[in-house]
Amino acid sequence: MQNELKEIRDRILQAVSEATDIATLDEVETVHLGRKSEFSQKMKGLGGLSADERKAVGQLANEIKEQIRTAVETRRDELKAAAYKDLATADRIDVTVPGEQPEQGHRHLTSQAINDIVRIFSRLGFTRERHPEVDWDWFTFESLNMPPDHPARDEWETFFVDAPVHKKKGKMVLTPHTTSGTARELKKGKLPIRMMNIGKTFRRQIDVSHTPMFHQFEGLLVDRDVSVTHLKGVLDYFASEFFGAGRRTRLRPFHFRFTEPSFEIDISCGICDGTGKSEDGGKCRLCKEGWLELGGAGMLHPNVLTAGGVDPEEYSALAFGWGVERTMMMRAGIMVDDIRVLYKSDFRFLNQF
Ligand code: PHE
Repeated sequence: MQNELKEIRDRILQAVSEATDIATLDEVETVHLGRKSEFSQKMKGLGGLSADERKAVGQLANEIKEQIRTAVETRRDELKAAAYKDLATADRIDVTVPGEQPEQGHRHLTSQAINDIVRIFSRLGFTRERHPEVDWDWFTFESLNMPPDHPARDEWETFFVDAPVHKKKGKMVLTPHTTSGTARELKKGKLPIRMMNIGKTFRRQIDVSHTPMFHQFEGLLVDRDVSVTHLKGVLDYFASEFFGAGRRTRLRPFHFRFTEPSFEIDISCGICDGTGKSEDGGKCRLCKEGWLELGGAGMLHPNVLTAGGVDPEEYSALAFGWGVERTMMMRAGIMVDDIRVLYKSDFRFLNQF
């Protein structure tokens, strides 16, 4: 019996020394020393031995168990040490390898232009205010000297909101121009005013040169003795700051219901410098006659000031409102076949700006 036990012990010690990782070692331990192991089975036969023999075998069995336990612990320490030794090569991070650049976005070119516009006018004391982009007929048309059913309203191709009609302010609309913000600014009753209102505007037009949503920037200056001279000065300042030194504006008589006098503003062409001629004596390839059309402006109509609670005998006001997209495309010299590309979220286009 004692020899048999010794044989079992040798086999176990062999297995322990052959274990090459901790999981295998754990397994060796349970398989060879567990209740169902060969060793435990043998020990069950102990009862059939004489008292002396039982004592001797029992002692040997304890010694063997101790030997095995020590062997397992020693092997376990060896394996752990080996694992740590490999760690430096197996789990190595090279911190000097260049990282991968995460993709970085930037502001949409319309937002970039809006920021530039705000910055330029702020130097003249204009502050950007926020006004609703969904507003009542009153602010959009009626208080701007366009009574209900006036044909001039047709020019604004308005989207009407399916909402209850307000008794005094009428229907609700998606603002077709930012001049509604001008009507609201007057209503605040704080004078003088130097305001920029820049927002989304909406019109029922969609084709290669129109998107149903676009942006306008509106300037309003209300004070005593404001004249067309100030309007011209403000616009010339903007032109040279936004488009570059030397660019000038031209006021062309026009008609808006809410301004008197009214103008269309042109800017001198950046290619021919307002001459309309190309170098070889022909017509300028961009503008044809020296000027590019920017947008509308004028002195607020006395009726508009009155509707906004401002006394037209005491105050006068200059106002202008232009499309952001048109203005910025003109600056960058961007010529696109289809302006809708601006809002298609196509990175091939957007990443160029
Ligand atoms: N609101 C006008 C438009 O949308 C532009 C404008 C603004 C004209 C202010 C005069 C004064 O065309």
